Amino acid sequence: MTVNVVIMAAGKGTRMKSALPKVLHRLAGVSLLQHVLNAGAGLGAARTVVVTGHGAAEVEAAVAAPPNAPGIVCVRQMPQLGTGHAVQQTVPALADANAVTLILNGDVPLIRTGTARALVDACGGERLALLTIELADASGYGRIVREGGAIRAIVEHKDATPAQREIREIYTGIMAAPTRLLKRWVMALRDDNAQREFYLTDIVAMAVAEGVAVVGSAAPSETEVLGVNSPVQLADLERRLQRMRAETLMEAGVRMADPARFDLRGTLACGSDVEIDFGCLFEGQVTLGDGVRVGAHCCIKDARIEAGAVIHPYTHIDGAQVGAGALIGPFARLRPGADLGAAVHIGNFVEVKNSTLAAGAKANHLAYLGDATVGERVNYGAGSITANYDGANKHRTVIGNDVHVGSNCVLVAPITIGDGATIGAGSTIGRDAPAGQLTVARARQASLSGWKRPQKPAKPAKAD
Ligand code: UD1
Ligand code: MG
Repeated sequence: MTVNVVIMAAGKGTRMKSALPKVLHRLAGVSLLQHVLNAGAGLGAARTVVVTGHGAAEVEAAVAAPPNAPGIVCVRQMPQLGTGHAVQQTVPALADANAVTLILNGDVPLIRTGTARALVDACGGERLALLTIELADASGYGRIVREGGAIRAIVEHKDATPAQREIREIYTGIMAAPTRLLKRWVMALRDDNAQREFYLTDIVAMAVAEGVAVVGSAAPSETEVLGVNSPVQLADLERRLQRMRAETLMEAGVRMADPARFDLRGTLACGSDVEIDFGCLFEGQVTLGDGVRVGAHCCIKDARIEAGAVIHPYTHIDGAQVGAGALIGPFARLRPGADLGAAVHIGNFVEVKNSTLAAGAKANHLAYLGDATVGERVNYGAGSITANYDGANKHRTVIGNDVHVGSNCVLVAPITIGDGATIGAGSTIGRDAPAGQLTVARARQASLSGWKRPQKPAKPAKAD
């Protein structure tokens, strides 16, 4: 059956108190709207129509950007006269014959594809299917009014009688309708209600009047249908989502010090016996091999960490590869293009960018390696740096196997240090250093006998 997806995203989101349109606020690093688009994409819809209004240009730009397939249509709703009016704008864009139209809200981000699919199936191109849920506190929501078990109408909170306000079963804002009927119903809506809006929910009573079956389908969980209207609700949903992600990882065997202090904004693939201490943030695509341990407060983005590596606390990794058994941090920074071999050690306040370190290389303290190729078992001393940038271009430093670079050296690139070379501490190396030799480039030490330190003049005695 052909499926259309309509995503309503024209509302202002006043309670966010933000210049950013509400649906572009981020949950787990992805906009609310993108979560909904992703859920809809799983349905193989013939048409996806996003209704824009407030911040339309910004929202439309987000819809047109990857990862969305081209061809998602945006229609503008100006001004915004209610949810029924929003769907009216989509009528010309909806595929017709035998189609089902699924209506989603741009600010209800955690709806799952499976739940949406079940609602489409419940509609079956013939019935009006409503996603509902029972809430302990239903205030503010549209209530599901039943008679003898059958759904008769949805009544908005502001229009409800005191008796209707006692109803706990509410409409989640998500429905699936036969497209042909939906088009006719929304065009017949009126705004004679408490808010002087065109309520999409009024089509329920129209369906009942025409003898079209209306079915309620209970949402599998509250989290899936919670909306975001305020920063507090956004943060609440973030914690719920992160808790679910943490539980999925723990069920697969990952040991977490505290699942309440864990954040994943992307995908995290873990081997067996992985341990993650509290307060870590993972972004993009991260892979942790068997037995990897990540210390507290690490930020790891787009990285591959091989088996047995240990990432000590407060380490920042972005776009890097870490070899098996490597020891990184605490307080280390691996930037894009850092490719570390097995058993490499990177210690505190060491920064590595666009550099390859072969197996067993060590840079343990206060150092910078940028645009470098470092051989096996190299020992790179405390305070040493590659001077890789001349103000216009980046140049490479090549360090052979078994090189020992003393403390506080400057390697002025482009430069090559031969295998087994030793660079004396405090050297500024501007020419290639030969293999196997000691190269020192610093002023000779001198001691002057009889030299006197300058004296301050004696202070005059203080007058009383
Ligand atoms: C709506 C439902 C209510 C339901 C609740 C669930 C109606 C009349 N009421 O109420 O039964 O319990 O959702 O959260 O549908 N939007 C537009 N254009 C508009 C107005 C709204 O695109 O002119 C969009 C909003 O951006 C939002 C969605 O539609 O994504 C829902 O609008 P909102 O104003 O939040 O509806 P509620 O009053 O919460
Ligand atoms: Mg709402």
